[in-house]
Amino acid sequence: MVSKSKSVDPDLSKLTRAKAKVEAMRLRLAIEGHDKAYYQDDAPKISDADYDALRRRLEAIEQKFPELVSASSPSQTVGAAPARGFAKVQHVVPMLSLGNAFADDEVAEFVERVQRFLKLDDVPAIVAEPKIDGLSLSLRYEHGELVRAATRGDGFTGEDVTANVRTIADVPNTLKGKAIPAACELRGEVYMLKHDFLALNKRQEEAGETVFANPRNSAAGSLRQKDVAITASRPLKFFAYAWGLMSDYPMDEPTQHKMLQWLDRAGFVVNPEITLCHSVEDALAFYRRIGEQRASLPYDIDGVVYKVDRLDYQERLGFVSRSPRWAIAHKFAAEQATTVLEKIDIQVGRTGAMTPVARLQPVTVGGVVVQNATLHNEDYIKGIGNDGEPIRDGVDIREGDTVVVQRAGDVIPQIVSVVMDKRPAAAEPYHFPHKCPVCGSHAVREEGEAVWRCTGALICPAQAVERLKHFVSRLAFDIDGLGEKQIELFHERGWVQEPADIFTLKARNADLKLEQLEGYGETSVRNLFAAIDARRTIELHRLIFALGIRHVGEGNAKLLARHYGTLDSFLTAMRAAADAQTEEGNASEAYQDLDNIAGIGDVVAEAVVEFFAEERNIKALDALLSELTDVLPAEKAKSDTAVAGKTVVFTGSLSKFTRDEAKATAERLGAKVAGSVSKKTDYVVAGEDAGSKLTKAKDLGVTVLNEDEWLALIGG
Ligand code: IVH
Repeated sequence: MVSKSKSVDPDLSKLTRAKAKVEAMRLRLAIEGHDKAYYQDDAPKISDADYDALRRRLEAIEQKFPELVSASSPSQTVGAAPARGFAKVQHVVPMLSLGNAFADDEVAEFVERVQRFLKLDDVPAIVAEPKIDGLSLSLRYEHGELVRAATRGDGFTGEDVTANVRTIADVPNTLKGKAIPAACELRGEVYMLKHDFLALNKRQEEAGETVFANPRNSAAGSLRQKDVAITASRPLKFFAYAWGLMSDYPMDEPTQHKMLQWLDRAGFVVNPEITLCHSVEDALAFYRRIGEQRASLPYDIDGVVYKVDRLDYQERLGFVSRSPRWAIAHKFAAEQATTVLEKIDIQVGRTGAMTPVARLQPVTVGGVVVQNATLHNEDYIKGIGNDGEPIRDGVDIREGDTVVVQRAGDVIPQIVSVVMDKRPAAAEPYHFPHKCPVCGSHAVREEGEAVWRCTGALICPAQAVERLKHFVSRLAFDIDGLGEKQIELFHERGWVQEPADIFTLKARNADLKLEQLEGYGETSVRNLFAAIDARRTIELHRLIFALGIRHVGEGNAKLLARHYGTLDSFLTAMRAAADAQTEEGNASEAYQDLDNIAGIGDVVAEAVVEFFAEERNIKALDALLSELTDVLPAEKAKSDTAVAGKTVVFTGSLSKFTRDEAKATAERLGAKVAGSVSKKTDYVVAGEDAGSKLTKAKDLGVTVLNEDEWLALIGG
C-alpha cells in the first residue's frame, strides 16, 4: 500500500479575508449537504477522500482566519443532526470524530505532538486498530444491563435504536464478569460482512428493493429501520473499541489495550487484528500489513486508528475542537482507476430480475484486478438514482465509454463517472433489452420499480431451479420425497427442466435409473413415484400458486381459484385477458373482471396477464396439464359477508380458535388472510402477546380487533 500525501491547494497566502469568507461559507454548505447525505440518507454523493479534502480546506481557512469560525461550523460539529422518526438520545460524553492523516509523516507528526504535549522523551505505547467502515454506536449499560443504544447523530444527540440493536447478536444484553461499572457507555462500530452485504443486495435487487452501494450504507440502512423485524433479518455485526461515560474503570491503571481485553471478557467482539505498537515504525508497519490484507478481510476498513494507550495520557491530552489529541485516523488512499467499458451484459437472477453488468477492460484498482462492475438497473445506466435524482451529474453510461471505476466499500466495483472527453463519437445511448437474454420471453418493468423482469417463469433456465423448488413447495404441489435438494439434483442432471418433467420421471426411469443414485433404493424410488402420482389430482388454488406468477402468493391464488371456480373457466378468462391485452390495453372484459376481484389489485392483475401473455408459459402449462388427471374446483367464496374482499392478519396467540381454523373461516367468508401488516390490511386480529405486527397496525392506523370482536364481526 503506497501512502500518498493528500493535500488540498495549500496556497492560502493569496487568499484575502473577503474571499476566504465566501469560500468558507460555500465549503460549510457543501459539507453540511454531504453530512446529511452520509449520516441521514446513507447515500453519500462524493468519495471519502473528496469529503476529507473539503473539511481540510475549511479547517485550513479557519486556521488562517479564526474570526470566521462559528459554533455551527462543521469544523465544530460532527455528522448531521438525527433524522426524524427515532427518539433523541443525549450522549453523556459526546461521540466525537477523529483527525485524519494520509501520509506517513503526518503520523510521525501526530506522535511528536503527543510527546511534546506530554513532555515525553520516549514514544508512548500506541494501539493500532483497523478503522472499521461502518457506523458508530453507543451502548449504555446500567449495572451490566443494556438500557439504551444510540447512533452518533451529530455527536451530542443521536437516535434511540435500542430495540433494533437488541437484535444484533454481537451486542450482549448483559455484561459478563465481576468488575462491572454501575453505569457506562460502551462504543464501537456496527458493520456488515462483505459476503453478507453481497447476498443481501442480491436479495434486494431481485425483490426490486433498495440496493445499497456498499456494506457501510447497508449496515446503516439496516440499523435505522422502523420495523425491528427488518433489522433482525439483516446480518449486522459489531466491534467494540471505545467508551464514553465510565462510572468506574474495571481495572487499575487502565489503558486502551487493557480496556479492549475487558470488553472482550465482558462479552463483546473485539477486532483480532488490533496491535500494541511501541514506535512510529511499528505503527506504520501495521498500517502497511493491514493495507495489504484489506481486500481479503471479511469486512471493510478505510484506514487505521492509532490511539495513545495510557488513559491518563489520553485524559491529559484531551480534545481540540471535534477530535481527540490522543488519536488519529490514518486513511487509505481512495481506490479508483480509469478503464474502458467494452460491453453491457444482462444477467438474469433466479427470480427473473435482469441486472446489467459492465464488462471492463481489466484494470487494477487498489491491488485487485477488476473486470466487471454492477450497473444495477436501467435507471442507473441512464444516470438516475433510486430516488429519481440524477447520479453522476445525470450522465448516462454507454458501451465504449471510458469510465472511472471505484471499488466501493472494497467489494463491488462501481462506475463513479464517465470521462466525457473520451466518449467515442459513435457511442449510442444504451437500450435496455425488453426480452430475457436467457429464454427469450418478454420482460416487464412494473410501475414504480427499477427492475426489468423476465416473464418466462415456467421455462426460463435462469429461473428454473427456484421455480421448480417453488412448484414442489408445501403450499404448492407438496410432493413427499421431492424437496429442494432433490430438485437441485434432478435439475443439475438435466432430468427436470420444467414442471411437467416431474410427472414423466417414472416413464423415463428405464433410462434415468433413479434407484442408482446415492441415497436412493428401489423402495424410495417407488415411494417417490407414488407420491408424484398422488399429486396428479390437485386443488385449483395449489396449481395457481405453483405457477410462481409474480405477486401471486397463497392468498391471491385462493382468491383467483374461488373467483373462477374451475380450471377451465380460469384458463379461458386468463387467455381472453392476455389475448386482448395487446389490442385493447387492459380494457377487455376479462381483464376488468380479474381486476375487479376483491383483494386483487392492478399490480397482481397485470402480473397474471403478463404470465399468460407469454406463449412459452402456456406451452409449459399445457404440458403439465396433460400429465395431471384432475384439477379440483374451488368452493366459490361468499361475497355477501362483512369481511368479503377484506385483508386480515392474525397475530399473537389465539385462544378461541387455532390459527388454521381462523384462516380457513376468514377465507370461506371471502376474506384474504395475509402474513404481514401493510397499508392494505383491513383488520388485525390480535391475541395474547401480539408483538411487532400489532405495533405496526397501530402505527398505520389499521383496525385492531380482539378475538371476540372478530367473532362478532363475522357473526359468531
Ligand atoms: S475511536 C473520539 N476506533 O471512525 C473518537 N473509531 O472518524 C473515537 N471508527 O466515529 C473513535 N473504527 O465510527 C475509533 N477502531 C476505531 C474505529 C473508529 C472505525 C470510526 C467511528 C468514528 C470514526 C471517526
